[in-house]
Amino acid sequence: MSNYHIKHLEEYYQVYRKSIREPENFWEEVAEEHFIWQRKWDRVLNWDFSKPEVTWFEGAQLNITENCIDRHLSTRGDKTAILFEPNDPKDDAEHITFNQLHQRVNQFANVLKDQGIKKGDRVCIYLPMIPELAISVLACARIGAIHSVVFAGFSATALSTRINDSDCKMVITSDGSYRGPKTIDLKGIVDEALNDCSCVETVLVAKRIHSDIQMISGRDKWLQPLLDTASTDCKAEVMNAEDPLFILYTSGSTGQPKGMVHTTAGYMVYTAYSFKNAFQYKEEDVYWCTADIGWITGHSYIVYGPLANGATTIMFEGVPSYPDFGRFWEIVEKHKVNQFYTAPTAIRALAKQGLELVEKYDLSSLKVLGSVGEPINEEAWHWYNDNIGKKKSPIVDTWWQTETGGIMITPIPFVTPTKPTYATLPFIGIQPALMDENGDELKGNQVDGRLCIKFPWPSMARTIWGNHQRYKDTYFSAFENKYFTGDGALRDEVGYYRITGRVDDVIIVSGHNLGTAPIEDAINEHPAVAESAIVGFPHDVKGNALYGYVILKDVGETRDQDNLRKEINQIITEHIGPIAKLDKIQFTQGLPKTRSGKIMRRILRKIAHKDTSNLGDTSTLLNPEVVQDIIDNAF
Ligand code: WTA
Repeated sequence: MSNYHIKHLEEYYQVYRKSIREPENFWEEVAEEHFIWQRKWDRVLNWDFSKPEVTWFEGAQLNITENCIDRHLSTRGDKTAILFEPNDPKDDAEHITFNQLHQRVNQFANVLKDQGIKKGDRVCIYLPMIPELAISVLACARIGAIHSVVFAGFSATALSTRINDSDCKMVITSDGSYRGPKTIDLKGIVDEALNDCSCVETVLVAKRIHSDIQMISGRDKWLQPLLDTASTDCKAEVMNAEDPLFILYTSGSTGQPKGMVHTTAGYMVYTAYSFKNAFQYKEEDVYWCTADIGWITGHSYIVYGPLANGATTIMFEGVPSYPDFGRFWEIVEKHKVNQFYTAPTAIRALAKQGLELVEKYDLSSLKVLGSVGEPINEEAWHWYNDNIGKKKSPIVDTWWQTETGGIMITPIPFVTPTKPTYATLPFIGIQPALMDENGDELKGNQVDGRLCIKFPWPSMARTIWGNHQRYKDTYFSAFENKYFTGDGALRDEVGYYRITGRVDDVIIVSGHNLGTAPIEDAINEHPAVAESAIVGFPHDVKGNALYGYVILKDVGETRDQDNLRKEINQIITEHIGPIAKLDKIQFTQGLPKTRSGKIMRRILRKIAHKDTSNLGDTSTLLNPEVVQDIIDNAF
């Protein structure tokens, strides 16, 4: 019997040890007992990181949608699979049962086939968070088409680059989207993007905002009439274990975005198993991940992982601030959410608001809180723990990446004791290693270094679409025979991991390595500070000095700015030491952020270096307007 559901710490250690000592037996048992296969594998694992080449469950045949939908019909047909919460709270939520999901995915899959899409073709999906997004993803998987979801906040240029990179034959979009009080002309963006894409033959358009858009004849087709006449029967395509399931783009530190390729069987097994355990999902629970399906978090932990477990998964179309900053908590109360998974950037934005917006709602249904996407700072962790979890819902700080497909380091709630800002222990089957600058592995505890993974896990990306050499160079060349994550981490005295941030964000000051995250943590402890970002800039004695960009909570803050600067440096001195004091502190209204909420340090670094001539493409930022403001007020 495999340990599909881990319930206490001793069991975690026991299962973890087994997954390391006998990885093939371990994953084989999980795959055997908890999924349906059209044919079983000949070989569980084959790997060679020097090529790099990794295959899991080779020889097996399956369709992931049979695991996410069909097999639940006899026992959970009337259970809600997808619970759609629209942008406007006055509109009704939509409960899509597994039976209905089955019909709608099959109809959509038949439409794709009628439009000439075949197994292996790439389909670009550029949709807002409406049910058609999850359904089109699953419809592609049903017929073996490779989906490439592009977050519907990206610009036309970003979209066309991604469409061309993987030669998509079709784009699925909508007539527009709602975003809080605003509407966005998605179809207009697609039209602009397609001026540069000759590979696209068909555009399917879902109706959402009923705007008056231009339809180009021969190319553009309204989706609904095609669905209305499509059959609800569609046999699942037989897929090989290593057939690509999807491509998802992630930005590299340089150059073009990288189309990470995820394959079918290993991805399914790992996302399902990690979902079950990292969130301790139980049959009647309602699970909500606030990410967008345009990111890996949405792929693995809104769609595939939850549905493979027969879970009820919420899709939220709106934003945390509309109609006010209480919206998340209103939804938690309304749908009695049990597991809530969000990002530190959202937590910090919500923590800036008054607590009355939290206290208005009944959050007693919550059992588990999750965090993902960046290191969660101490202040945000405590705010989340105290005010949302009321100190009784464990916070799972889940570290992972687009490339890893699934959660890699995380506490298991009610199993692993949590520690603020620590992702804690490796998940089952994951073998982290911390490396020093010379390429040697740091053994033992109380060490910090570059985070690598030294053994394959089932959901790792297999290549970069069209550029295997770049895959090898980026991830398998820095350290021999290891996957390099690009992150730094420390292992504390009990073996808990804390992610210290991208190693390219490490700043060496007077020969000392300083991670930006711990300094930012310290600054954020100041009661007047809402958020901060640190970069290095050249200094003739120390090599590098630190430049801090700081957002104050109250824009009308009247205290003397020089005094505030002194207080901030005092806090840093107390938390880290005088070495980490900032040479320059600029108060600013905002920080440039990517659409997924990550601070664009590259831009801040250039400004600190007084090199603003070539800031690169700022058009995909969430808030491009703050850049000029920061430049104007820079030192
Ligand atoms: C960072 C998101 C600290 C990290 C799933 C990683 C984190 C990058 C955490 C991947 C966390 C993600 N603590 N840092 N819990 N989660 N990161 O590809 O730097 O959008 O390498 O995947 O985000 O971001 P990505």
